[in-house]
Amino acid sequence: MRQKIAAGNWKMNLDSQKARELVTELSNTMTPSGVEVILACPALYLDMANTLASKNRKVHIAAQNVHDKDNGAYTGEISHEMLTSIGIKYALVGHSERREYFGEKPSFLRDKVSTLVNNGFTTIFCCGEPLKVRKSKKHKSFVAKQLKDSLFHLKEDQLKSIIVAYEPIWAIGTGVTASPAQAQEMHKFIRSEIRKKYSSQTAKNLSILYGGSVKPANASQLFSKADVDGGLVGGASLNAESFKKIINSF
Ligand code: PGA
Repeated sequence: MRQKIAAGNWKMNLDSQKARELVTELSNTMTPSGVEVILACPALYLDMANTLASKNRKVHIAAQNVHDKDNGAYTGEISHEMLTSIGIKYALVGHSERREYFGEKPSFLRDKVSTLVNNGFTTIFCCGEPLKVRKSKKHKSFVAKQLKDSLFHLKEDQLKSIIVAYEPIWAIGTGVTASPAQAQEMHKFIRSEIRKKYSSQTAKNLSILYGGSVKPANASQLFSKADVDGGLVGGASLNAESFKKIINSF
């Protein structure tokens, strides 16, 4: 069901003590009505974070990465079975940093999406174009292909467990944010692609988050757009005060 969502992506940041303090603070804070909070923590802290967050029903802990196989000889990876065994049922897939630095290909992302969907996870599927593509005005077809390659194998009712995060690569960690109008344009386009592939009901029910230099200063303008259901926030989610302001920006 479509939700207002403030999701934090900690990436490879924070030591154990700071991670503990941040989850504790956010779990103890009243979340505005109708808003869900998701924290994508480093794998090492997932168990601790999930235990700390369990007192707040509106705070969900997500894995930043998961392998598509159930278990086996995949050194360094974590599986959906492991996540389930510690109560984690949310995960990110397809973040541009995983695509770019770790060479994750669309077919691998597609398999990950299947594994997560088939095992009862809520999946935040990330998409978004690099600057070169934006400049050449091919950003819509680029994102359409990312959806087609790794998401559109799903059956319509499986879309219920998908959240899409549109994160233009040129806006991630750069301080440059897409304008609310640019975000709205792409979100509307993504929703129309979902409508074309599935149905208007499924398109209407999909939560689409914007990511890329979301900050307390720009969150409310972005979130006020009709097709922007919230944010996937990197840098500004590492500090409780700034992330709380973002949570309160709806
Ligand atoms: P940023 O990262 O907010 O630091 O730009 C967003 C993301 O990569 O999810």
